[in-house]
Amino acid sequence: MGFLQIQFIKLLAILVIIASSKSSLSTTPPNFTIARPNCINRCGNLSIPYPFGTTPDCYQSYGFFVTCNHTFNPPQAFIQNSSIEISDISLDGQLKALQFIAHDCYNQNGTRVSYNDPWIDLPISLTVNNTANKFTIIGCDTYGFIFGRRLDRNYSTGCTAICDAKDDLIAGSCAGLGCCQTSIPKQVWRVGLSLWSYENYSNVWSFDNCSYAFLVEESAFTFSPENLTNLRSVEKLPMVVDWAIGNGTCEEAQMNASSYACKSVNSRCYKPDNGYGYRCSCLEGYQGNPYLLRGCQDVDECEDPRLNICEKRCVNTMGGFHCACPKGYYGDGRKGGQGCIRGESLAFKLAAGISLGIIVLLLIAYWLHLELKRRRQTKMRQMFFLQNGGMLLQEKISRKERSSDTTTIFSEFELQKATNNFDNNMIIGKGGFGIVYKGFLPDNRIVAIKKSKEVDQNQIEQFINEVIILSQINHRNVVKLLGCCLETQVPLLVYEFINNGTLFEHIHNKAKARFLSWETRLKIAADTANVLAYLHSAASMPIVHRDVKSANILLDHTLTAKVSDFGASRLVPSDQTQLSTLVHGTLGYLDPEYMLTNQLTEKSDVYSFGVVLVELLTGKKVLSFDRPEEERGLANLFLSVMKEDRLFEILEENVMREGNKKQLMKVAMVAKNCLHLKGDERPCMKEVEMEIAGLMMGEKHPWVPTGHDEEVKGSLLEGGFSGAINVGEDNSTSIGFYAKDHVMLPIGGGR
Ligand SMILES: *[C@@H]1O[C@H](CO)[C@@H](O)[C@H](O)[C@H]1NC(C)=O
Ligand SMILES: *[C@@H]1O[C@H](CO)[C@@H](O)[C@H](O)[C@H]1NC(C)=O
Ligand SMILES: *[C@@H]1O[C@H](CO)[C@@H](O)[C@H](O)[C@H]1NC(C)=O
Ligand SMILES: *[C@@H]1O[C@H](CO)[C@@H](O)[C@H](O)[C@H]1NC(C)=O
Ligand SMILES: *[C@@H]1O[C@H](CO)[C@@H](O)[C@H](O)[C@H]1NC(C)=O
Ligand SMILES: *[C@@H]1O[C@H](CO)[C@@H](O)[C@H](O)[C@H]1NC(C)=O
Ligand SMILES: *[C@@H]1O[C@H](CO)[C@@H](O)[C@H](O)[C@H]1NC(C)=O
Ligand SMILES: *[C@@H]1O[C@H](CO)[C@@H](O)[C@H](O)[C@H]1NC(C)=O
Ligand SMILES: *[C@@H]1O[C@H](CO)[C@@H](O)[C@H](O)[C@H]1NC(C)=O
Ligand SMILES: *[C@@H]1O[C@H](CO)[C@@H](O)[C@H](O)[C@H]1NC(C)=O
Ligand SMILES: *[C@@H]1O[C@H](CO)[C@@H](O)[C@H](O)[C@H]1NC(C)=O
Ligand SMILES: *[C@@H]1O[C@H](CO)[C@@H](O)[C@H](O)[C@H]1NC(C)=O
Repeated sequence: MGFLQIQFIKLLAILVIIASSKSSLSTTPPNFTIARPNCINRCGNLSIPYPFGTTPDCYQSYGFFVTCNHTFNPPQAFIQNSSIEISDISLDGQLKALQFIAHDCYNQNGTRVSYNDPWIDLPISLTVNNTANKFTIIGCDTYGFIFGRRLDRNYSTGCTAICDAKDDLIAGSCAGLGCCQTSIPKQVWRVGLSLWSYENYSNVWSFDNCSYAFLVEESAFTFSPENLTNLRSVEKLPMVVDWAIGNGTCEEAQMNASSYACKSVNSRCYKPDNGYGYRCSCLEGYQGNPYLLRGCQDVDECEDPRLNICEKRCVNTMGGFHCACPKGYYGDGRKGGQGCIRGESLAFKLAAGISLGIIVLLLIAYWLHLELKRRRQTKMRQMFFLQNGGMLLQEKISRKERSSDTTTIFSEFELQKATNNFDNNMIIGKGGFGIVYKGFLPDNRIVAIKKSKEVDQNQIEQFINEVIILSQINHRNVVKLLGCCLETQVPLLVYEFINNGTLFEHIHNKAKARFLSWETRLKIAADTANVLAYLHSAASMPIVHRDVKSANILLDHTLTAKVSDFGASRLVPSDQTQLSTLVHGTLGYLDPEYMLTNQLTEKSDVYSFGVVLVELLTGKKVLSFDRPEEERGLANLFLSVMKEDRLFEILEENVMREGNKKQLMKVAMVAKNCLHLKGDERPCMKEVEMEIAGLMMGEKHPWVPTGHDEEVKGSLLEGGFSGAINVGEDNSTSIGFYAKDHVMLPIGGGR
């Protein structure tokens, strides 16, 4: 498109030039005065410029006197009162004078029948131009001389023209065969011609009976064999005469201002080639007659395209011109289309160019910055991946192919996309271990993404093990770990999304609590106990959850418990029964023994579970500052109530209404055992689980014996029942049974 536009503009420019040149060619030639005021400036066709003139007032000196003879038609001009006719006068210092031809003719018997030897005297201001003119002799039996005066001395030179036959003659060649030419000296003002014959034409008369001699402007005469005869009818031929003012130098002439001939402003003086006198000329850019006062006029070069090189707009100035670019174009107009640049100005162009350059540079810099950032980020991701034990995890996952389809390593990008770049609106929970976001995976799965707090470098191995173990758990009451992301500084864990809130909400929100029946509560307790029992006895290394609380037990739409938040969980190596860690957990649920000793055991979870159990029974807050100081902690309140045998005063309404008092009492006893101050005294989770499971069975199946421990223990064991375990030592009451004909839930039954 741009290219076409440029071509179109060029075409237009060409058309404009053609049009303007046509119009300027049609204008009349320059019109300026050449003669003095009131002087005749013409004679017939001849224009007579000053210093020449036809009357004394009109010529500069007598040397420039011109006679115009009006008896001729058209009138003819002559130098002074001579017979030298002038055919042209030029202000360049030359004129053309017509000179008579000398001839010499013979008859058959060798007698001269016709002869003339003309001569001319030029006035002091005129000399014959020695380079433009040639002395020429035509004939086949002749020689001739040109002679006269140059300055104040004589001169003479000659030429011989001979030929034997007419076909010796060569057209255009004056090398002596029928035609001879020679140069003349400088500064000649008197010219005489004479002709002679060697043999009186006796030998050549048959084809040539005349010879001729003349001084002629070289370019005006070309020899032809016919000229041997046809020149007889020609009277005069032109010769070039130079003219100049005076006989001194420019410097001499300028000393006398009144006689100095270069009268015009914008004129100058120069010496002719022959060094005789001086001449005047207009300065460049001016034209006219430099010998007149206001003779040199400015030349409007713009009128004549031959005088200017402007392609577009030409502006005439005194003595010159300049080329301008069309409106809207800037630059050097003399270069035409290429020189003119479209635009506000060159500075604007420059500024635009520079700013464009800067913008490009900035863009490149910005791109480099982004690229570096991206690389740095990639490097960081790789570093974090390694730091977070990615290789270890990958290795382990690849080794255990079975688990690889349940646990995925997500990329940071995937999770950013899933959480709308960790938008605050996606936060569904905040806890001691980090923030939980809701996320949407591309396969429409809804997930919970936990952004953990920074991981202690030396616990990475454990973290990885945890991830591995959790990914293997696949317990139906444990929130499923779908995967993790290790590319971020803090690892991100991706869980299945449980949609019905926490147990905490369901207990403590009055509206929700109404729908939480005793049966459901018991089932939640059983499920939770099952999970903890499973964790504590799991695989190679028991896992201590460390943060069992109602807020960490999620409920799905069927109010089935899903234990979550293993962020604080610790593996307890099997050769150790306790682990020394910083105390971690939630006030109210925290095992007082652990708090004192920093020694973490599975029994800490048992304590916390006891608190949850009490929470389920009473529906009371775990910590309440409304209560008296010693009863602020729910555990303390519960224990004191139990001591005073006032259990039924603090039970939740629903529980109270729906629950079997005996059964409630037994659950309360389990809780009480769990809340034993000494960890060793607490039952283990497996025992608790079985006991609660047993109580549930008892509820559904009243036939299950609930009698005295000692009674049933032996018989049941003998009868092939499994899993009956005595829990308590002090007033031990709880025993769980699994009848043979009932499905026994295996430990970690979901696996
Ligand atoms: C030339 O100039 C004279 C006066 O200076 C004027 O009268 C005459 O019309 C001009 N001729 C042309 C063709 O311009
Ligand atoms: C001189 O003028 C006449 C008419 O006035 C013209 O026919 C002739 O060609 C002109 N001669 C020259 C040399 O200009
Ligand atoms: C003009 O020319 C004619 C014929 O050549 C001549 O008789 C006459 O004297 C001339 N007139 C002048 C003024 O020179
Ligand atoms: C021309 O005039 C001058 C004087 O003005 C005179 O001496 C000379 O003889 C004249 N020549 C001719 C050819 O009339
Ligand atoms: C010279 O020869 C030409 C023709 O060639 C003739 O017309 C002329 O009369 C001759 N002149 C003389 C003097 O014989
Ligand atoms: C030459 O010829 C002319 C006529 O053409 C004649 O008058 C003359 O006497 C002749 N002369 C000689 C010497 O033959
Ligand atoms: C120059 O030539 C003329 C004749 O043309 C002669 O009278 C004169 O003496 C010559 N002068 C010199 C210096 O030769
Ligand atoms: C040529 O003619 C002249 C007289 O006209 C004569 O004196 C001369 O001897 C002649 N020369 C020749 C070579 O015939
Ligand atoms: C010389 O002869 C040629 C050819 O006929 C002719 O055109 C020319 O005008 C002649 N030269 C002169 C000066 O008469
Ligand atoms: C120049 O011309 C003057 C008269 O116009 C004359 O007196 C003088 O001698 C000349 N000088 C030369 C070098 O010809
Ligand atoms: C200058 O020239 C004028 C006229 O040509 C003349 O009358 C005068 O004497 C000259 N002056 C000088 C200083 O040569
Ligand atoms: C003689 O004529 C030629 C060609 O026109 C020119 O270049 C030269 O300047 C002339 N000589 C003088 C002294 O004017």
